[in-house]
Amino acid sequence: MITCNGNFAKLRASYLFSEIAARVSSFESGNPDRPPIKLGIGDVTRPLTDAAVQGLHAAADEMARAETFRGYGPEQGYRFLREAIVRRDFASRGAAIDPDEVFVSDGAKCDTGNFQELFAVDTVVAVPDPVYPVYVDTNVMAGRTGTWSNGRYDGLHYMAATPENGFVPPPPDQPVDLLYLCFPNNPTGATATAEQLQAYVDYARDAGALILFDAAYAEFIRDDSIPRSIFELPGAERCAVEFRSFSKTAGFTGLRCAYTVVPRAVAVADGSGGTVPLWDLWMRRQATKFNGASYPIQRAAAEMYGERGSAEIRELSDYYLANATIIRSAMEKLGFPCTGGINSPYVWIDGGRPSWDFFDDLLNRAGVVVTPGAGFGPAGEGFIRISAFNDRDRVEEAMDRISTSLA
Ligand code: MLT
Repeated sequence: MITCNGNFAKLRASYLFSEIAARVSSFESGNPDRPPIKLGIGDVTRPLTDAAVQGLHAAADEMARAETFRGYGPEQGYRFLREAIVRRDFASRGAAIDPDEVFVSDGAKCDTGNFQELFAVDTVVAVPDPVYPVYVDTNVMAGRTGTWSNGRYDGLHYMAATPENGFVPPPPDQPVDLLYLCFPNNPTGATATAEQLQAYVDYARDAGALILFDAAYAEFIRDDSIPRSIFELPGAERCAVEFRSFSKTAGFTGLRCAYTVVPRAVAVADGSGGTVPLWDLWMRRQATKFNGASYPIQRAAAEMYGERGSAEIRELSDYYLANATIIRSAMEKLGFPCTGGINSPYVWIDGGRPSWDFFDDLLNRAGVVVTPGAGFGPAGEGFIRISAFNDRDRVEEAMDRISTSLA
């Protein structure tokens, strides 16, 4: 009989959001007349913008005509989209990225999960704690960790994000090869200043490490002094890769489009005393395993860079940011210390009690779904995350329900 990948046995029983979904579904079957308000997983609820829909329609029409039909596209994504990405997301911020360094994909979850495949099994990995579980679980699957004990995997280096460091941990105090960072942060909603990000870049340059920078929430930054891209920092083009997503920015969670920037200047050891451009490895991996995001989706994504699309995504992110303000002020009024919700769609709340207890309490008493902080790592214990991704009236009602149930 074939033997499974034994590393899967090290994984915790279920993925965080699957565990939440199971508890919610059990609540729903026991309470058919009390539909819960979902502020757990960061899934958008507002419809696609007019520009995105127009892009989809136009692409569908093109696909319906022999003269404009398109089959397989370039694995890296269509050039029209990669050029638009570079203009608006990087050149406008002074970051010198070339369209050839952009790889369009069908999701930042896949890209952040897949990227670790490029590295040796003995790569030393550092992750923040609390952390988006994909970074950790994919390294567990690849065999880079020992077993799970006391909420952490042996062999991983954890960088604790705590109230004391403002939820921006300093760079590791030991040599590591690969560092995952996410700002604005999921789950804490914290943002990092240019000085704090520069410290990471300097660390990586000194240690010969690589930063995997998840900027899926960059669109929510309103404070112009906060970097949106790691490539705004000098030296990052030699030691960093960046992941972006259209999911939260443009409401594409159901359409699927994202991109990853791999600068040509990043080189990694080839294991035989030489170096190899990281770009070559990711290109090889994508060409082998991926046939590109679909043409209509890329057309819709490109529309988000036009004048109308840009205004629409600004409006969309303003909408969710206003929800975040409502959440944060309601929870603060109830006496809970809060982080995030400013320049970020997530509010991180110190509940002063075990996270899963608070989660169950809010679900059962208020009928509101949040995310227990402990699910993101042991440093998340005692916290919950509330997502601003829902309709305004739902968010207002959720906050009323929580206020009443906790009064
Ligand atoms: C979250 O709620 O943390 C995100 O929606 C998960 C994701 O983007 O995969």
